[in-house]
Amino acid sequence: MRVLMLAPAFPNEMPFFARGLASVGARVVGVGDQPVAALPAMTREALADYLQVPSLFDDDAVLAQVRRYAPGSPIDRVETLWEPLVVLAARLREGLGLPGMTVGQAVTFRDKERMKQVLEQAGVRVPRHSRESTARGCLEAAERIGYPLVVKPIAGAGSADTYKVANRAELEGVLPMVRHVPVVSVEEFIAGEEYTFDTVCAGGRILYYNVSWYRPKPLIARTVEWISPQTVTLRDPDVESLAAGRALGRAVIDALGYRDGFTHMEWFLTPGGEAVFGEIGARPPGARSVEIMNYACDVDLFAGWAEAVVHGRLSQPVERRYNSAIIFKRAHGRGRIRHIAGLESLLSRFGQHVVSVELLPPGAPRRNWKNTLLSDGWIIVRHPHLPTLLHIADSFGTDLQIYAE
Ligand SMILES: Nc1ncnc2c1ncn2[C@@H]1O[C@H](COP(=O)(O)OP(=O)(O)O)[C@@H](O)[C@H]1O
Ligand SMILES: [Mg+2]
Repeated sequence: MRVLMLAPAFPNEMPFFARGLASVGARVVGVGDQPVAALPAMTREALADYLQVPSLFDDDAVLAQVRRYAPGSPIDRVETLWEPLVVLAARLREGLGLPGMTVGQAVTFRDKERMKQVLEQAGVRVPRHSRESTARGCLEAAERIGYPLVVKPIAGAGSADTYKVANRAELEGVLPMVRHVPVVSVEEFIAGEEYTFDTVCAGGRILYYNVSWYRPKPLIARTVEWISPQTVTLRDPDVESLAAGRALGRAVIDALGYRDGFTHMEWFLTPGGEAVFGEIGARPPGARSVEIMNYACDVDLFAGWAEAVVHGRLSQPVERRYNSAIIFKRAHGRGRIRHIAGLESLLSRFGQHVVSVELLPPGAPRRNWKNTLLSDGWIIVRHPHLPTLLHIADSFGTDLQIYAE
């Protein structure tokens, strides 16, 4: 099977997915905007061929270039795991007459208003919502929906340009800040904990699923710099307290008619025990989440995804052995990393539960924590017992400090 993979090198998990495809016997044709020599070695080794395009964001030009290429080397599938290219992948499929997610479905996964409308019609509990493109429209929608509410871009990512507002005065303060966003969702604010429901599907069947817990909720994590945000992959996603979320997740996959590949849904568990839909992407979760899912079950979901899309099955056993957590660190101060404090003592206390430490080394410039959750580095830990895992993760949150100047 020849698989066209859009963006096989970026974001930084993609080389693993490209390698996964090659490992299950696919001939992988990469499509990207970098010269082949600039691709990571893992991607280059996985590719049977590579098509360099001037831009991945000029859909018509990419389609034309792929059309010229395909007759000589027929393509069987088009895949991407990078959210901004989900619609382009669908356009290529339609253009080449290939099976898989259609443009209509892909747009539903990208447009947060359309997504909620479709789900609402299927009886899924979504926040009350409205699509708005003017300040006056936002104010009127707020009156209908009620406060507190959230204003966010219709196709956002990483909580950018997302605001919680408690009343009309706050909304009036926020509107100038979102003026550059052409279309926003105005949404009922849902209180409670925030979780994910991630799947690998084939033929519309869920072959693997995962529930992760955000500590704290992403909107808070992106607003308060001193926090070391965690994503915690739960060893036991089948506990009774998450039953409503699992049912929601399955209903959403069905309602959207999703068939093959990764999905990443976010949902809220309210203090009253209700599960409320947040959003869903037709792609894996980012920020190293696939890695922590792998560590939780000792599986390789990069190859597992590939097997699902190429062969329609997942043959690796999924044994849920651990809870695993990634803890993202943000340095104090600006400029370059100077000093890392507390790591040795943490490793002597918890070393056997630590599977990965990837902190920026002294001398490296700080990353912009607003732009990337990866911030100034991360630690991955795992433990079979959830309270112990949380204690270890919190210890890395408080006792590991990075200083920059
Ligand atoms: N209706 C809502 N109620 C409560 N919190 C919300 C709501 N919508 C968004 N948020 C918060 O904002 C974050 C980002 O919103 P989300 O829709 O997930 O967009 P993004 O694509 O930026 O991840 C969420 O993870 C959540 O913490
Ligand atoms: Mg989100």
